[in-house]
Amino acid sequence: KILANTLFLGKDIISLPECHSTNDVAMEKIKSREAAEGTIVITEKQTKGKGQRGNVWESQEGKNLTFSLVLSPKFLQPMQQFDLNIAISIAIHELLSEYVSGLKIKWPNDIVHETDGKVGGILIENIIGQGCLEFSIAGIGLNINQRFFENLSATSLANLSGFDFDKWEIFKLLIHKIEINYLELKKGNLKKMYQYYLNNLFRYQEWASFSDSENFVGMIIGVQDDGRLIIQKEDGSQNYYAVKEVGFL
Ligand code: BTN
Repeated sequence: KILANTLFLGKDIISLPECHSTNDVAMEKIKSREAAEGTIVITEKQTKGKGQRGNVWESQEGKNLTFSLVLSPKFLQPMQQFDLNIAISIAIHELLSEYVSGLKIKWPNDIVHETDGKVGGILIENIIGQGCLEFSIAGIGLNINQRFFENLSATSLANLSGFDFDKWEIFKLLIHKIEINYLELKKGNLKKMYQYYLNNLFRYQEWASFSDSENFVGMIIGVQDDGRLIIQKEDGSQNYYAVKEVGFL
């Protein structure tokens, strides 16, 4: 069904009509040594799709893309795992921006429309080896043709554009882009990707409202190597936040 124009990513595709979570299937396949680097697990329906922070990932059967990439980024130390988030989220942002305008990357790695809600998300789960990432499962959920959402902060490419899309075309182009970025990362070329990430980061260098232990006004001024968000507060102080420590208001 899907012919990928890639070197290794998607050469082996496990396509399931239904599963709990493609990330979980990928994890099982890695553990039973049935999945090597480049394997993709994709499904039309997840019964227990997982989002960041223990959230549920909802996606209407057949309409969208829900899949997981099996990668083996042994060239990354555990403390560099955020680099993979950058490489993948910018690949998604770059591709989807060819179809609709106004997309941003919301830290750490949501793909959102600047005013109309969330289009996609990434959940990366790692198997840590000796001083390196033995395996990374990069789970990607993209809302393509779904029109109605119970969650009011979610949207899709179809809603944003008014058109339906060929999701397999998007899938193919996307894994090609992700592979290119992954290989760049492997060569150690993160700098340009990091710059792209910042340039397209939601609320970067804008005063906005956030919450930590209380609500405050601040400005995102960067992202640390370890992925922590750097927010400057009105009093000039710089604060570093891990994923669960700060919210956007
Ligand atoms: C988020 O934004 O919270 C991350 C969403 C990640 C969803 C994808 S869908 C395919 C893969 N399998 C899962 O269970 N989750 C990821």
